[in-house]
Amino acid sequence: MTDPAATQARDAWGTRAGFILAAVGSAVGLGNMWRFSYVAAEGGGAAFVLLYLVLVAIIGIPLMTSELIVGRMSQESPVVAVKRLGGPAWAPLGWLFVFCGFGILAYYSVIAGWTMRYAFDALRGGLPTDAGAYFQSVASGWPAIASHLLFMAITVAIVVFGVKRGLERAALILMPVLFLILVGLAVWAASLPGGGAGYAYYLRPQLGELLDPNIIRLAAGQAFFSLSLGMGALMTYASYLRSKENLAKEATIVALADFGVAFVAGLVIFPIIFNFGLETTIGLGREISDNTVGTLFIALPTGLQSLGSLGDIVVAAFFIMLFFAALTSAISLLEVVVSAVIDGWGWRRRSASLLFGFLIALGGIPAAINIDFLGAADAFVGNFLLIVGGFFTAILVGYRLIGPADAELARGMDNARARAVWAGFVRYVAPILLLVVLYFMMPTAWQAFITIVTLGRG
Ligand code: PHE
Repeated sequence: MTDPAATQARDAWGTRAGFILAAVGSAVGLGNMWRFSYVAAEGGGAAFVLLYLVLVAIIGIPLMTSELIVGRMSQESPVVAVKRLGGPAWAPLGWLFVFCGFGILAYYSVIAGWTMRYAFDALRGGLPTDAGAYFQSVASGWPAIASHLLFMAITVAIVVFGVKRGLERAALILMPVLFLILVGLAVWAASLPGGGAGYAYYLRPQLGELLDPNIIRLAAGQAFFSLSLGMGALMTYASYLRSKENLAKEATIVALADFGVAFVAGLVIFPIIFNFGLETTIGLGREISDNTVGTLFIALPTGLQSLGSLGDIVVAAFFIMLFFAALTSAISLLEVVVSAVIDGWGWRRRSASLLFGFLIALGGIPAAINIDFLGAADAFVGNFLLIVGGFFTAILVGYRLIGPADAELARGMDNARARAVWAGFVRYVAPILLLVVLYFMMPTAWQAFITIVTLGRG
């Protein structure tokens, strides 16, 4: 094996703020904006939000801390790291990470392409009156392929510039703009006269649903996707850390920021939906399924149309924000693949980004053509495989690497009691809960797998 370090110096973050914003940028994405709202609606509003928060605290933060530990400890791509630290038997976990990065980015970029197209058309003079027909026309076939390829090109262009000049700079610019637009939209939404019912729906407690296996499954899948867990994304980012920050604290900041954005996004979306009477358009209360993938893209423009040119501005702002959010997530997905090729095979960053960006762009074409394929890929790779990855990460860190991992955590956290609490969650709580979740997920995952295979052949 070639020693990559001998041929090129390994990338690193410039500042702690740069790392945090990039990690928050990875977490905050399409998942926070449309997925969270729908799943929250499905799960009974406040009951879901509460359960989601609990899962973020007892699985999300401990596992994210574990990923950050492995990353900083190894100073290597996760693919190389899990094999070197865990032994050859653990190599498949690294491949699973890369497969997920590849697979998620392929369809994620298609949805991100829609946001770009929407923002562009809204700025150019408003979206067509029939938002449903407009969505149909831009979200599949050639227009969808074109915007998907453009989005991939932008993602690759940033990753080519490397960690400090590409990833970190993009996050430092895009994330503050995103927060500003989001808060602006939430304030505006609060002024809608009919928004009260939306808040009530979103925040009404129905605690009886808290133990519904279906809701636990939805909340866990959503937590992993939204926090970028289970596929080495934050592990990769932490591998560019050199300093001794408290990794449990960093994980908590990232998780809370991600939750905060999702929560505020709900405060934007629900008042709009209820103010403009779009409950049936988006099918509130229905099971989350493939055909809800596009509902936000239809509901928002439909509702805001009645506002005339103010509506165009709000639509443009919303989709620009969504585009920024998607971009900072997409670069983290690509970085998992690219870092594996740089550290594992000794490739140069530029050739790794260009070639694998191109392959992922090709891989996304079926999702750009067929929205059912997209939905199934999201259910199988974006939900199920992330939980699988998270389960094995917990076993790897909690059992095989517990000594060195604890020592690595101790570099920034000398409170041994707190570290023992972390270890308890990683060794017992996370694996057991994740096994339960995997069990509940089997039927939908299997169904999605069959859809992928059938549509992929056709
Ligand atoms: N967390 C991102 C979102 O919410 C998606 C993502 C998943 C990014 C996994 C990286 C890794 O949109």
